[in-house]
Amino acid sequence: MADKRCRICGGILREVLDLGRQPVSNAFVRLEDAPKVPFFRLAIGRCDSCAMVQQLETVPPNEMYRADYPYRASGSLMIRRHFEGVAREIVETRPGGEGGFVVEIGSNDGVMLKTLAAAGVRHLGVDPAASADDVAREHGVNVRTDFFNAETAADVYAEYGHANLIFSANTFSHISYLDSIFRGIDTLLAADGLFVFEDRSLADILRHNYFDQIYDEHIYFFSVVSVKAMAAHFGFELVDVEHLPLHGGSIRYTVARKGVREPSAAVAEFVAQEEADGLLGSDVFVRFAADIDRVKADLVSLLRDLQADGRRVVGYGATSRSATVLNYCGIGPDLLPMVCDSTAEKQGCVTPGSMIPVCPTADFSNPYPDYALLFAWNHAEEIMAKEQSFQDAGGKWIVYVPKVHIA
Ligand code: TMP
Ligand code: ZN
Repeated sequence: MADKRCRICGGILREVLDLGRQPVSNAFVRLEDAPKVPFFRLAIGRCDSCAMVQQLETVPPNEMYRADYPYRASGSLMIRRHFEGVAREIVETRPGGEGGFVVEIGSNDGVMLKTLAAAGVRHLGVDPAASADDVAREHGVNVRTDFFNAETAADVYAEYGHANLIFSANTFSHISYLDSIFRGIDTLLAADGLFVFEDRSLADILRHNYFDQIYDEHIYFFSVVSVKAMAAHFGFELVDVEHLPLHGGSIRYTVARKGVREPSAAVAEFVAQEEADGLLGSDVFVRFAADIDRVKADLVSLLRDLQADGRRVVGYGATSRSATVLNYCGIGPDLLPMVCDSTAEKQGCVTPGSMIPVCPTADFSNPYPDYALLFAWNHAEEIMAKEQSFQDAGGKWIVYVPKVHIA
């Protein structure tokens, strides 16, 4: 078989982890449609040349982001607060001054842009998920239902002119064809404009064993080293980085046209830290694979033991990440009879591959289970506070990262 090549620079990809056959993670469908859910091999490799960690195989985007794509960013208070903060900063700093233009790639339900819309900032969201776009439009957000790429960007430029800020959160790593995206950014971005994107941090994933961050939609696992190389490869420059607590640890990357801004000291500091963390070596993935296997063994035996003891366990949060956990561990409705989730679009469906019914969170207390397996661990504080009476009634939370434990 020919070597797999890096999607960014064409270098050779070395496989570092294989999580086996996995379904499209957001394919929440009715039970009768479960056999139609597409599967693929979930494995990642790292580029010998630019260090970009990426999936070896990918699912076609139109199988992941269909019109009925159920993810809604606004489902969490923490996420809403974060993006309202991002939007307020944009409103205050007004990139491009009065009449400045802001584009968001992957605007979802308008969680960020609605604040810009309310403040009268010229903006456009670009997102292929039509149902999420409709929600954004209800908030007065201007949206184009489309995949962002070089052609879309040319159209947007023809209609609106240059963008002073292009923003994207938790979307950029979902797009395999970043060459086309960067060509689009090149067309659309003003000479002194900034491209700012936020994404999960590879260092945090490895440090905290967040293996469930690996699923179909996360094609790339960015590090400062690899993003710096990527920006340079496409004729841009990484000028700033900032760590964010979101999703177990994310980084906000600020990219400018080459030579427009002096890179901040933070860029070099993050690079040095990643080197010190061994992010460029292979041992880190050997340890990661061993830790993942340990979680699998411990979680399955815990669920079996609880079942043998007559305890009822349900899942909480039908996250995209849960697809990796459930399918990698081989957990189905026999061990976990339901997963509760607040997203209306997921309720009444089954989890992809593992076929566990997804129920409204109202069912959680009706009656409370003995244990709840928390898939939405990134929202732990918010969920545990909301479900305080579960704990008051003697219920216990099971969390599986960085290792299986009762929280
Ligand atoms: P996410 O981690 O990808 O944002 O997904 C979180 C999932 O958890 C999403 O399907 C909504 C669900 N959820 C609840 O059911 N209740 C909650 O309180 C929160 C914050 C999320
Ligand atoms: Zn590469």
